[in-house]
Amino acid sequence: MIVAIDGPAGAGKGTITSLVAEELNLVTIDTGATYRCVALQCLNENVTLDEPEKIIEIAKKVKIDMDENKNVFLNGKDVTKEIRSTEVTSIVSPVSSIPEVRDEMVKLQRELAKGKNVIMEGRDITTVVFPEADFKFYLDAEVEERARRRVKQNEEQGIESNYDEILESIKKRDYNDMHKEKGALIRTEDQIYIDSTNMSIEEVKETIIKHIKGE
Ligand code: DC
Repeated sequence: MIVAIDGPAGAGKGTITSLVAEELNLVTIDTGATYRCVALQCLNENVTLDEPEKIIEIAKKVKIDMDENKNVFLNGKDVTKEIRSTEVTSIVSPVSSIPEVRDEMVKLQRELAKGKNVIMEGRDITTVVFPEADFKFYLDAEVEERARRRVKQNEEQGIESNYDEILESIKKRDYNDMHKEKGALIRTEDQIYIDSTNMSIEEVKETIIKHIKGE
């Protein structure tokens, strides 16, 4: 079974995915983490955004793994926390806009899901990675609410952040993510649309589970 969840940054996809996975015994795959690994490796190798050829090389050669606890490994090293840094976040959307980078990551994401019952979240899961998924959701929330949630999430993970900066960065990322030539975040007729702005995490989780169980 494949459950696909797309939506903008900070909509709660990560949290919801983990909760639904736990309840329905699904493997979670955070596809944003794969793009974050490529972005981190660019920083590690001092490759900048105006060197797309080098970024493509990196996307082709990196080894990315995830374990069942959502830990992320880049070339064998645990980078779960590092990939959430402000530096990575500020370049990840342009990195993920390079079509060749997307081709590599989509291949890897399909590989990670092979033979498993998965719940996968990202921007183009319902449209490109698994358009034939059993259940497709678009999880949304107003941008200010998403910024508040991201600040809170960062605080919980011990990452320092400022609301205004996060809001600006999310707006920029939204624009970029929605205007990519390949793999753009879009709404389609066959997604189940959920606006979580005024919903609790529990309510969103229950809504998704009800859809999956056909209740
Ligand atoms: O979900 P996230 O914030 O960790 O994603 C990081 C970036 O990766 C995001 O700005 C857009 C990109 N991304 C993508 O282009 N396609 C995906 N399936 C997942 C993420």
